[in-house]
Amino acid sequence: MSVADARRRIGVQKGRTGMRTQVGIVGAGPAGLMLSHLLHRHGIDSVVLESRSRDHVEHRVRAGVLEQGSVDLLCRTGLGERLLREGLRHEGIELRFAGESHRVPMTELTGRAITVYGQQEVVKDLIAARLAAGGTILFDADVVRLDGLDSPSPVVRYRRDGREEELRCDFVAGCDGFHGVSRGAVPEGVLTSYERAYPFAWLGVLAAAAPAVDELVYAHHDRGFALYSMRSPEISRLYLQVAPDEDLAAWPDARIWAELRVRLETVPGWSLTEGPVLEKSITPMRSFVVEPMQWERLFLAGDAVHIVPPTGAKGMNLALADVALLGDAFAAWYGHGRTDLLAGYSATALRRVWRAQHFSWWMTSMLHRLAHDDPYEAKLQTATLRYAATSRAYATSLAENYVGLPEV
Ligand code: FAD
Ligand code: PHB
Repeated sequence: MSVADARRRIGVQKGRTGMRTQVGIVGAGPAGLMLSHLLHRHGIDSVVLESRSRDHVEHRVRAGVLEQGSVDLLCRTGLGERLLREGLRHEGIELRFAGESHRVPMTELTGRAITVYGQQEVVKDLIAARLAAGGTILFDADVVRLDGLDSPSPVVRYRRDGREEELRCDFVAGCDGFHGVSRGAVPEGVLTSYERAYPFAWLGVLAAAAPAVDELVYAHHDRGFALYSMRSPEISRLYLQVAPDEDLAAWPDARIWAELRVRLETVPGWSLTEGPVLEKSITPMRSFVVEPMQWERLFLAGDAVHIVPPTGAKGMNLALADVALLGDAFAAWYGHGRTDLLAGYSATALRRVWRAQHFSWWMTSMLHRLAHDDPYEAKLQTATLRYAATSRAYATSLAENYVGLPEV
């Protein structure tokens, strides 16, 4: 079915009471935008409702690592042009601990690689593609309620320009992140949540400084974890483990650089490059999964149903993997009347989600200074890191999870 046919069949229609579409999507993060893009390629109409402005979502600094599978998905669906030009392909990562430095040669071990490309760049590319294709994204549209999810025609109610509006659709995709409203629309007793809180947070810095490394550095230090990442040959992205209730005001730039030097300059002859801090923020750390990822005509994807601590660089990749499944499932429904993929969405997605949950928890536990000083735990961490640095089998396990397992 062509896009034009789909529009004629149901399509985005503006009526007296509001719009109608096939799939109503809540949230214009990587999950919601990618789903809208994939649906369009299958000739299925969608409307994306986003509470923030376009400028806000295009400049929100978040994740930076794309697994091979995410890169392949973006390229296969026509979004690879700038990604392949500006993204930085990395074939290894460095583990720094106990004054030593070890490279995990990911590509040598797995045949796959990661690409460093900021989440906001993925979001910009997706928005541009949707708008160029005539897609509908309503920014500054705050979804307040989902109704009729157990009927054939759910209604998404949202507020925009001070007015209450509604979007009628066949299905709703809840892609509105951890703090969104979609998950809360499921009746009590249906969902089970699994959670772990960590007694630390990450202070993230974006700096106008040429990266002093070619590959990401994950550093274990007595004073806490540090991560050296990047966005381009001119921009570095750095993180420090801090207390969960840390006050950003207590971290002037000079203190941040001093602490980064202590935790990262542990290898003889290596030093940090400093530069003006462009942005800084504190991100809490949590592991969280809600099951199932679907109720009636509501399908949940991305951070709306699962959160991982960023140590495994999995958050954005999971969001994209969820909606790749959902895109195929909706295509099977609209194209062939098949219900099996929609019915199996949650169980299929959760297999990857739990693999990523374990990997992210494992990386986090291995690399951070844990809450209560526990010399035994610190010894275990060093032993684990040394094993990852010296055993090809263990390093391969780390590498295949980090670059992303094609089938889980
Ligand atoms: P989101 O990107 O959160 O998108 C959800 C969208 O829904 C948002 O645009 C939001 O404004 C919108 N929304 C919410 N409520 C409503 C509503 N009621 N109505 C309409 N729209 C709504 N991962 C890493 O791997 N590395 C990192 O360094 C990293 N840093 C992060 C920092 C922060 C502060 C956060 C919150 C996450 C970070 N993550 C990181 C995780 C990664 O960014 C997420 O996994 C990814 O954004 C998930 O994409 P998503 O589309 O599911 O959700
Ligand atoms: C990032 O570049 O923002 C980044 C990289 C690796 C991580 C987390 C964040 O594990």
